[in-house]
Amino acid sequence: MNAPNSFSPLSLSNRSHWASRGAISFLMQQGVENPGVLSLAAGLVDPTTLPVELAQQQLTDLLADDARARECLQYGTTPGSEHLRRELLPFFAGLEKSTPQELDLTADDLLLTTGSQQLLSLTCDALFNPGDICLVAAPTYFVFLGALEAVGAQAISVKTDSDGMCPDALDETLASLEQEGKLDRVKLIYLVSYYENPSGVSLATTRRKRIVELAKKWSKSHRLIILEDAAYRELQYDGEVYPSIWSFDTDREHVIYTQTFSKSFSPGVRVGFGLVPDELKKPFSDLKGNDDFGSAHLNQRLMAGVLDSGKYAPHVDQVKASYTLKRDAMLAAADKYFSDIEGVTWEHPHGGLYVWMSLPENIPTGFDSRLFEEAVQRQNVMYVPGELCFAADAVERNHMRLSYGVLPPDRIDEGMRSLAAAIRVIASQS
Ligand SMILES: Cc1ncc(COP(=O)(O)O)c(C=O)c1O
Repeated sequence: MNAPNSFSPLSLSNRSHWASRGAISFLMQQGVENPGVLSLAAGLVDPTTLPVELAQQQLTDLLADDARARECLQYGTTPGSEHLRRELLPFFAGLEKSTPQELDLTADDLLLTTGSQQLLSLTCDALFNPGDICLVAAPTYFVFLGALEAVGAQAISVKTDSDGMCPDALDETLASLEQEGKLDRVKLIYLVSYYENPSGVSLATTRRKRIVELAKKWSKSHRLIILEDAAYRELQYDGEVYPSIWSFDTDREHVIYTQTFSKSFSPGVRVGFGLVPDELKKPFSDLKGNDDFGSAHLNQRLMAGVLDSGKYAPHVDQVKASYTLKRDAMLAAADKYFSDIEGVTWEHPHGGLYVWMSLPENIPTGFDSRLFEEAVQRQNVMYVPGELCFAADAVERNHMRLSYGVLPPDRIDEGMRSLAAAIRVIASQS
């Protein structure tokens, strides 16, 4: 008998190859290989504010009754637990400063997903053929750039400033794509509407409205969809309260909306939800059915119990109070250590988990840069290189994403001091 043929090469799909960006793996590996390093890179939520007691209480309650326990431990359905979808109606309507009746929403309009990440990839699966185009902010959420690559879609950058994606630039980009004969390939505009990962900026209210109008205007051979990623919506610390982009899409034809309990409650439960235009409900459900025929039912029931208990809002208030202190610690440290380094600027986020810092153009920040090496190897601090967050057509190399999610305020201060020291070393050599 022949020995097992262990040397034959694997024949992987194109999608496997397209999916191999690897940036996250590299960052995680750096974290593991350098355990003493202070991480301003990790986008994880603060472990001290995770809702241990609340989760314990709810799970105990859920499982205390045998019949209910059996129900929760059974498979759910593809769109997800009706209990949770019903709880989500007033919850979501509350964020919209409205009621489910006024919004004309029912539980059938909601799709529950495994984190919001699953809704992002379902969107890619539902809309893109290889070569299709997605318009993105610059910078944008780098994991979504990976999801686009994984389906062979092309990301095209649209000029972005501290109020988010610029509608005039979006209009111009669409006009030039039409001139090049590529408009029929443009399927999606992706927007992280609140406290974007990585830049911390939110899309200005007037721009939200305008971008929905532009999606309508440029829907010619097919409907142009906006994917509104509201992952950080609830983590608002101060500043303006923004209506969703979804709220401007009065015909409910152009916006896919997604939100998550990862940031406000626990990323471990992997519960996200979405609203999609009617005609996308079936394709999404078909794709999700093939993938997992429903996200973790027990976790959805846990979230339903938490929302129903009345303890969710106080928990979120606590989380926000903790992040506010940490955001302030990072901004104070930025003032203290970076103000006198020429050409360094940073955004002041009103929510979310990130501060976006820009350096002079002659100081690149990538994994292979002298700064990254100096920071990780000698100053014991790590950040996310900004270049990961740009589509290939407009990469900028002189930014950093700094997260205040994980570290306590005193360690944030220490990390920022070390990072400033690393920048001074590199600036003095440039
Ligand atoms: C902008 C953005 N969208 C979506 C996600 C996905 O999160 P989850 O799948 O945990 O909901 C993240 C996670 O960090 C994010 O930053």
